[in-house]
Amino acid sequence: MPPTAHNNRSAPSYGTLACIGIGITLGSHLTPLARSHIEQSDVVFLAASDGIVEKWIESLHPDVRSLQPLYAADKSRKQTYRQMVNAMLTEVRAGKKVCAAFYGHPGVFAWAPHEAIRIARKEGFDANMEPGISAEDCLYSDLGIDPGAAGCQHYEASQLLYYKRRIDTSAYLILWQVGAMGDGGRGSAHAATNAAYREILIERLAQDYPLTHRIIVYRAATLPIDTPRIDRIALRRLSKIDIEVADTVVIPPVRKLVPDTKMLRRLEKLGP
Ligand SMILES: C[S@@+](CC[C@H](N)C(=O)[O-])C[C@H]1O[C@@H](n2cnc3c(N)ncnc32)[C@H](O)[C@@H]1O
Repeated sequence: MPPTAHNNRSAPSYGTLACIGIGITLGSHLTPLARSHIEQSDVVFLAASDGIVEKWIESLHPDVRSLQPLYAADKSRKQTYRQMVNAMLTEVRAGKKVCAAFYGHPGVFAWAPHEAIRIARKEGFDANMEPGISAEDCLYSDLGIDPGAAGCQHYEASQLLYYKRRIDTSAYLILWQVGAMGDGGRGSAHAATNAAYREILIERLAQDYPLTHRIIVYRAATLPIDTPRIDRIALRRLSKIDIEVADTVVIPPVRKLVPDTKMLRRLEKLGP
């Protein structure tokens, strides 16, 4: 039974869950706190597709269990994510100190860690998330973008097609999971999908941007010896180039910020 306000005085060992991020670049992005969670847990679950990353985490703990085998071409990713959540919670319920390590930040475009923490807490277990360096953080550094300068919108690419969203073209638009569009939510999320879906994405973006607008296809380095992918292309060429699942598409602002003169006058009246 998990601890409650009434029964936690004797403090026997109850299961706990820590969802941590290991960052994007092998080795160098792991925070000391995330590392100590790995080292001090009873069991470590790992969600990272790279064999080298797996070997590295295995060097830090004797019981590392990869979540990768849960992916399958004939299974929806939602189902895979539910199985990941169940795998983590089974050990928490068995009284283990569980660390679940996800690449990047565990809470950025990642459903399973949020869901596992939600359920664990609902069941009365101690569960928390530790931030990691996400692809977003790398992107700001590698592309020299300050999200505060003109603002920054982040959308999952498929969501931009499934729903009617308003794009603010005076801010940056960052599109995640462009390479996974149109796979029907199946498979490993590591196989990039058809250019036909990108044609439709171009059509959608052309409602707000000229086809000649320069966009950036970005991929942060995952190994310290790698360099990032930074390909600047015209929007209309997005379907013509190779896109990997780890690529993120960055669309710079196409128009200047428009001052709200009415608001400015009101604010002026407030004085210094
Ligand atoms: C399921 S999300 C996971 C993101 C991860 N939790 C993070 O914090 O970066 C996968 C998407 O993240 C982005 N991504 C993952 N690895 C990346 C990399 N090395 N460089 C740029 N974007 C990356 C891509 O948009 C990819 O489709």
